[in-house]
Amino acid sequence: MNRRYRKTIIAGNWKMNKTATETKKFAEDLKAIMPKAKWCDVVICCPFVNIPAALRAFKDLRIAVGAENLFYEPSGAYTGEVSADMLKDLGVKYVIIGHSERRQYFGETDVTVNKKVHAALEAGLHPIICVGESLEQREMNITMDLIALQVKSAFAGVPAEKARKCVVAYEPIWAIGTGKTATAEQANEVCNAIRATIRHLYGARVARSVTIQYGGSMNPKNAAELLAQPDVDGGLIGGAALKPDQFVEIINAANQE
Ligand code: 13P
Repeated sequence: MNRRYRKTIIAGNWKMNKTATETKKFAEDLKAIMPKAKWCDVVICCPFVNIPAALRAFKDLRIAVGAENLFYEPSGAYTGEVSADMLKDLGVKYVIIGHSERRQYFGETDVTVNKKVHAALEAGLHPIICVGESLEQREMNITMDLIALQVKSAFAGVPAEKARKCVVAYEPIWAIGTGKTATAEQANEVCNAIRATIRHLYGARVARSVTIQYGGSMNPKNAAELLAQPDVDGGLIGGAALKPDQFVEIINAANQE
């Protein structure tokens, strides 16, 4: 991380976990153990239906609330979908876009990811854009090309002043929920390449101001080493963000760096 130029952001991605009642309980448990001062921004991204409960519960803890998805159209006949404005109006600050689980199970593509990035920015939300390679792609040695393509597609048509508001999360698919973490060097190498792609698109000033997170089995044991890398500016955390004690340990790791 590099606090001089960009924010460190520790974000939880709850995926399809926890009810509204459990959200409240999590916040109460967290309150008892949360450090007084934090040198990073903390975000919890939770299921849509838990957002009002999360906003109430996390307000005192100064934890921002994020969504896990949105639909790119502003309004209309799209049964079951949620727009960027609906999220913004509630008080949501961040939205995860293009998580690999959405690409894998819900047909998201680089094209829909780009449309969602535009919709989020238009509404004043900060997109957390997820990119990452499968094990097969890593073994084929196409990780860097693939990531560059995902980043370029996600940012297509986004002007520089809005690109600064984006967060990118590097999440190697083979490390998600598997307990297999990328080594700190592997994580930094790809995060550095993501920054180089952003530099190529927008120049050095924007590139150094964008927060780039690592995600994939980040936990209290490996967080400090990952966060010590110069291009790893935070974490997008799944499993360990469901447990208050583990989540706090990761926040503490970010505090110490
Ligand atoms: P895990 O931390 O459970 O591996 O999940 C990572 C992730 O997908 C965060 O978006």
